[in-house]
Amino acid sequence: MSDVNPILSGSAQSIAAYQDAIEQSTQAVVEWLKQPEMYQGKTVEQLRERINLNFTSQGLGNQAAIERAVEYFLKDSLLVHHAQCVAHLHCPSLVISQAAEVLINATNQSMDSWDQSPSATIIEIKLIEWLREQVGFPAGDAGVFTSGGTQSNLMGLMLARDAFFARQGHSIQQDGLTGDLSKIKVFCSESAHFSVQKNMALMGLGYRSVTQVKTDAFSRMDLADLKDKLAQARADGEQVMAIVATAGTTDAGAIDPLADIAALAAEHQIWMHVDAAWGGALLLSEKYRHFLNGLELADSVTLDFHKQFFQTISCGAFLLKDARHYELMRYQAAYLNSDFDEEHGVPNLVSKSLQTTRRFDALKLWMGLEALGKKQYAEIIDNGVTLARDVAEFVKTQPHLELVMEPQLASVLFRFRPHSDDLAFVALLNQRIGDVLLASGSANVGVTEADGITCLKLTLLNPTVNLADVKILLASVKETAEQLLKA
Ligand SMILES: Cc1ncc(COP(=O)(O)O)c(C=O)c1O
Repeated sequence: MSDVNPILSGSAQSIAAYQDAIEQSTQAVVEWLKQPEMYQGKTVEQLRERINLNFTSQGLGNQAAIERAVEYFLKDSLLVHHAQCVAHLHCPSLVISQAAEVLINATNQSMDSWDQSPSATIIEIKLIEWLREQVGFPAGDAGVFTSGGTQSNLMGLMLARDAFFARQGHSIQQDGLTGDLSKIKVFCSESAHFSVQKNMALMGLGYRSVTQVKTDAFSRMDLADLKDKLAQARADGEQVMAIVATAGTTDAGAIDPLADIAALAAEHQIWMHVDAAWGGALLLSEKYRHFLNGLELADSVTLDFHKQFFQTISCGAFLLKDARHYELMRYQAAYLNSDFDEEHGVPNLVSKSLQTTRRFDALKLWMGLEALGKKQYAEIIDNGVTLARDVAEFVKTQPHLELVMEPQLASVLFRFRPHSDDLAFVALLNQRIGDVLLASGSANVGVTEADGITCLKLTLLNPTVNLADVKILLASVKETAEQLLKA
């Protein structure tokens, strides 16, 4: 072993090494932040060629390892804060979130048990209580921070499934899946996130267990079709274990009619999970909070803070209305969450999570809320929603562009429309516009489909982006399209 102790500790030598490494890294980030290009425009092949691992027996030392990370990782990373980086629900992060990461990483608390994260456990519990209050759930602390929307949706679906079987006197946890599984269904809209399908497959019920309800012209779940499909399911002897409503679909930002869906779910005694991974940001909104009316009627909710809450990846939460349902996933491990601890009121959060070892991501939200205050947080969230409306109005004035759908949250779906009735050609052209812009390093625009139409997507989360920036981007779209048409 080299004479330099590589472990972070309180020794003078370790502290000096820590400070050097952090300062070198911070300096590199500062330089990277100033980079003008959104991306240095390298292809998959070029990056594969360029990036090589260099694991030597003696080790390179911290300084050289950081230099190599700067050269091979940082320089070719996407600048997510760049005004032209608007493809995905991939936010630029709050400065305070970066500070929180320093604390989270250096302390390396693990959220599975109280004795590995004493103050962190209490902060997370208090934040869950606060989030429940924002949603309109009864007071309590049933819920947990997660790695993001996919995991939160998995928790909702899993508990819905287990509650469904429990009502029939069967414990999935003890005995596994049973009966004619082809009859068990989950309903969600055609625009729901694909993690519903993936999670159902993971849970042993397969893609075929997902019944997709039609959507209206705004990508919202169509209530008439939901009613028809519920009636059809009953007639076919199927059993619906959950309805997943979405508050903020990934592309259109559509919010399903939550209260109406909740009423139907209650009538049919079906668990309602709301995937509010994106739209949940409106909990803090001053202008648009009412879009989420009905969220409080859900049995469980997904929230994601690494989307429009501007936290670094990863940071999400799962909220469960009735804490008793946590019994369905109860597992007592003597070394982590023993009966003894439970009897003595020791909160070991492993009991509420699918993960065991888990990051203290809650700190980021806590510090973000304290640093910004609700008002500034509301402003940066509302900015995107308002900007999307302004951009849509501008798109309508441009003869070569077509607005595909009116915006609902902070996204704009549109396409370049050449003088051609060949729809396959128009689709390919829009796909190529997105590809060429990214390859040139100048912009990252989403390419997706809305109602079978291939279109471009601007996800305008970034509160530092304004209409003038988007006009520059739309001019590049036009220029790129014209070049492609010429070629
Ligand atoms: C509506 C919705 N739900 C769930 C997810 C999955 O979230 P995550 O990527 O955090 O797992 C996404 C991702 O974009 C989403 O848009």
